[in-house]
Amino acid sequence: MKRTTPVIPAEDIQRQKEYCAELRALNAQKSPAPLAYVDTYGCQQNEADSELLRGMLCDMGYEITDTDKGADVIVINTCAIREHAEQRVFGNVGALVHGKRRNPNQIICLCGCMAQEPHVAERLRQSYRHVDLVFGPQALWRFPEFLRRVYLRRGRVFETEPSDGAIAEGLPVRRSGKLKAWVSIMYGCNNFCSYCIVPYTRGRERSREPEIILNEIRELAAQGYKDITLLGQNVNSYGKDLEGGIDFPTLLEQAAAIPGQFLLRFMTSHPKDATEKLFDVMARCDKVAPVIHLPFQSGNTRVLTAMNRRYTREQYLDKVRALRERIPNVVLTSDVIVGFPGETTPEFEDTLSLIEEVRFDALFTFIYSPRKGTPAAELPDPMPKEEKSANFDRLVEAQNRISLEKHRSYIGTVQRCLIDGAGEDPRNNLTARTAGNRLVHLNGDQALIGQFADIKIIDCSTWALFGELEGDPKCQ
Ligand code: SAH
Ligand code: SF4
Ligand code: F3S
Repeated sequence: MKRTTPVIPAEDIQRQKEYCAELRALNAQKSPAPLAYVDTYGCQQNEADSELLRGMLCDMGYEITDTDKGADVIVINTCAIREHAEQRVFGNVGALVHGKRRNPNQIICLCGCMAQEPHVAERLRQSYRHVDLVFGPQALWRFPEFLRRVYLRRGRVFETEPSDGAIAEGLPVRRSGKLKAWVSIMYGCNNFCSYCIVPYTRGRERSREPEIILNEIRELAAQGYKDITLLGQNVNSYGKDLEGGIDFPTLLEQAAAIPGQFLLRFMTSHPKDATEKLFDVMARCDKVAPVIHLPFQSGNTRVLTAMNRRYTREQYLDKVRALRERIPNVVLTSDVIVGFPGETTPEFEDTLSLIEEVRFDALFTFIYSPRKGTPAAELPDPMPKEEKSANFDRLVEAQNRISLEKHRSYIGTVQRCLIDGAGEDPRNNLTARTAGNRLVHLNGDQALIGQFADIKIIDCSTWALFGELEGDPKCQ
């Protein structure tokens, strides 16, 4: 199959495996085995990348630990989406200097989206000299090579050149969960929303081959995974760089045809590319969970245009209508930015009215954060902070009310849920998720974890539902 985006040749991946073997042999001489810690910030894509980093670290003979204390290798997988995320990383990386003083052989690595911002790489080079290795998301597959270089004490390594990226297959993975799994179907973003750093940090859109994705899902289903999320910055762009005419709805339908008892989800859908074909596939495939994250960002068309989102308020509402015609009970979640440069309070009120009209199940709300190098960061931004905060608070308050009302409507219904973990409250010692991914607290036998069961919803809060097992759980 011909494609327009590059794939890393198998022999290059093989070379990385040889570096892993070399380090594994060196680490085998140590007792106890050296420890590695991977700390993850940001989105699910980063969570998925961290599972690859852990896979490579295991291949290099490290044992994975869940704290930086006593770790021989620390990897901080960073996010650049907002200032706040970056400040947390700088604070936490700064604090690692003390551990490194106690153990000068410790190797500290920083990767992920922040590494791909030139001003961040420069700051790390100058002022964070205890950081040994810095590399961006596009260079992730070369981690063994970089770590080997540092390990053999060939100085600090910075691999932060801008890169469009490629597809690297065959990397080892160590998944964090036994029930839920991420499957990246594509990488990068070409949308260049004017506020967003991701197209600069993650390179161009490129899709994995459908057969490789489907095989991965088959394996996960065979291993007993019950909840599989297909990942991409905009999954609706899937396949555009592949010859053969495959698009996301087709891939999703093929994935749903794989035998096994599991649910499929996907993240994220850009509204401009969310098609009726996608909604039809969601409606007709039982395995596709009736839930969609459809970020609208603003309810005002002028602001949407300034954001370069390439849809209007009306077009967004039309998509929601088309979706609900096909799946009336669809769970709908979204992202919103408050205080985009030049947004006025009357324009913000269009965002408020949109959430009242759509009534999302949940909303992720953000105050605009200027990102160096993006077009929006150059725009005049006259609205005082206090006004932005007041608007933000109004939005959160309205959404909390709507979320609570939506949750109340579940009371008395029976939901087929995946029991996915132990609860912290002894009265509700289990957690579960509805097909639409709403959190449910309930009481029951811990042996039920990992099974689908019918749960009667008896109470709720803004954030969660409370339920009880309905009769004998029909274990599948
Ligand atoms: N690819 C996804 C979004 C990834 S970022 C999509 O397009 O839907 C997740 C969310 O962070 C975005 O939807 C947006 O609401 C928010 N975000 C991105 N850049 C931001 C910025 N500069 N300031 C505040 N919020 C931002
Ligand atoms: Fe950022 Fe827009 Fe791409 Fe999402 S679609 S990652 S918001 S540029
Ligand atoms: Fe953050 Fe990069 Fe994801 S900026 S949100 S980790 S793509």
